[in-house]
Amino acid sequence: MNLPELAQHFEKLFGSRPRVYRAPGRVNLIGEHTDYNDGFVMPAAVAFSTYVAIAARPDRKLVIHSEEFPGNFEFDLDNLPQRRSGTWCDYVLGVATVLRQRGHKLAGANLLVHGEVPIGAGLSSSAAIEVASALALLSLTGTQLPLPDIAKLCREAENTFVGARVGIMDQFVSCMGKAGHAFLLDCRSLEFKFVPIPPGISLVVCNTMVKHDVATSAYNTRRAECEEGVRLFAQWDSSVHALRDVSVDLLEQHSRDLPPTIWKRCSHVVRENQRTQDAARALSSGDLKHLGELMRDSHHSLRDLYEVSCRELDVMVEAAEGLPGFCGGRMTGGGFGGCTVNLVREGSATDFAAQISERYQQSTGIIPHVYICSAEDGAQALGQPS
Ligand code: GLA
Repeated sequence: MNLPELAQHFEKLFGSRPRVYRAPGRVNLIGEHTDYNDGFVMPAAVAFSTYVAIAARPDRKLVIHSEEFPGNFEFDLDNLPQRRSGTWCDYVLGVATVLRQRGHKLAGANLLVHGEVPIGAGLSSSAAIEVASALALLSLTGTQLPLPDIAKLCREAENTFVGARVGIMDQFVSCMGKAGHAFLLDCRSLEFKFVPIPPGISLVVCNTMVKHDVATSAYNTRRAECEEGVRLFAQWDSSVHALRDVSVDLLEQHSRDLPPTIWKRCSHVVRENQRTQDAARALSSGDLKHLGELMRDSHHSLRDLYEVSCRELDVMVEAAEGLPGFCGGRMTGGGFGGCTVNLVREGSATDFAAQISERYQQSTGIIPHVYICSAEDGAQALGQPS
C-alpha cells in the first residue's frame, strides 16, 4: 500500500483526510544484548516501516484499525485500560497510556496502522509501531518532543504496558536512524555517533523464518543472569553498577569466582561492548576485514556464551561463509530465530541472496526470505498525502 492508497483507505473508513507518520524497523550490526547492560550497540534503521495515519475526532475516543493486523479497537481516552490485552494494539495503547501518565494531553483520534516490518523476525516491528504512534498521537495536540525523549517513552511503554523488558536500542534507532549510516550508541548516556557505511556495501538481511517459543522467557532469564553478575562484581568492585562497568581485566580476575553460567553471560557482554567499539572504528575506517572478524566473534559468543542462537541462525551464518562479496555476518536482534545481517558488496548482493537461500534451504528444508537493504532515515512526519 503506497501513501495515497493509505490515505484513501483512511478516508473511506473514517471520512476525513489523515496525516501520516512513519517509523522504521532496524538491523543491529553488532552489540547484542548489551543495551540493557548500559553498554554499546551499533544498529541502522532499514527501509521496512510502519505507517500510522491519524486524524482528530470530535469525541474522546481512540479508534484503531489496521489492514494487516486483526481486530478493530475502540477506547475511551479518559479511561484507558491499565493492562495489556495481548494483541498488536497494545503497542499503540501502551504509548497512549505512558503519554497520559507523563502529563501529555491527548485528543480523540482515528488511527489506521499499516505495518511493513516483518513480524517476529527480530527487525523491531514493535518499536516501529510505538514510535510512529507516539509521533501521530502527539501531533494532534501540537506537542513536539525531542526524538530521544520519544524513544525513551516508547521503551517505557514496552517495559511497563506490553510487559517486555527490552533495552533502548530498537526505539532509539527507529527515531534517530540516518540514511547511509549505522550509529554507535552509548546506552547509558544516550550519546551517539553516526558511522558511515562505506559506499558499495549492502546490508543483506536473511530471515530464517523461525521464531522459537523460548525467545521471551530466555530474554528475561538472560537479563536476570546479568543482574546477578552485577551483584557479584559489585561486591568486588563498588564502582560496578552495570556490566558496562566491568573491564576485561576484572572479568578475568574473577573467572573462577562466578558460577559458570553467570561467567559465560558476563563474558559475552563485557567483550561484546569492546567488540562494538572496535567495530565502529573498523567501519569508519573502511576496514571491512576486521569488521567481519568482529561480527563472526560476536556470533560465536552469542552462540556459545550467551546461548541465544539456534540451529537455523547458525546454519544461515555458516551459509554466508565463502560466498562472493561477503564481508561479515552474524545473528541480529534478541535471538532464537529471526534474522542474520550480512555486509555484502553491492555488485554481489543479488547472487549472494540467491546462493544463501539455496544453501539454507538445503540444510533446513525452509525457504528463507532475504532482503537486500540499505541504512535509512529514522522516524518522520510525512504530512497529508493527496
Ligand atoms: C531485542 C530488544 C533490544 C535488545 C536486543 C538484543 O531486540 O528489543 O532492546 O536487547 O533484543 O540485543
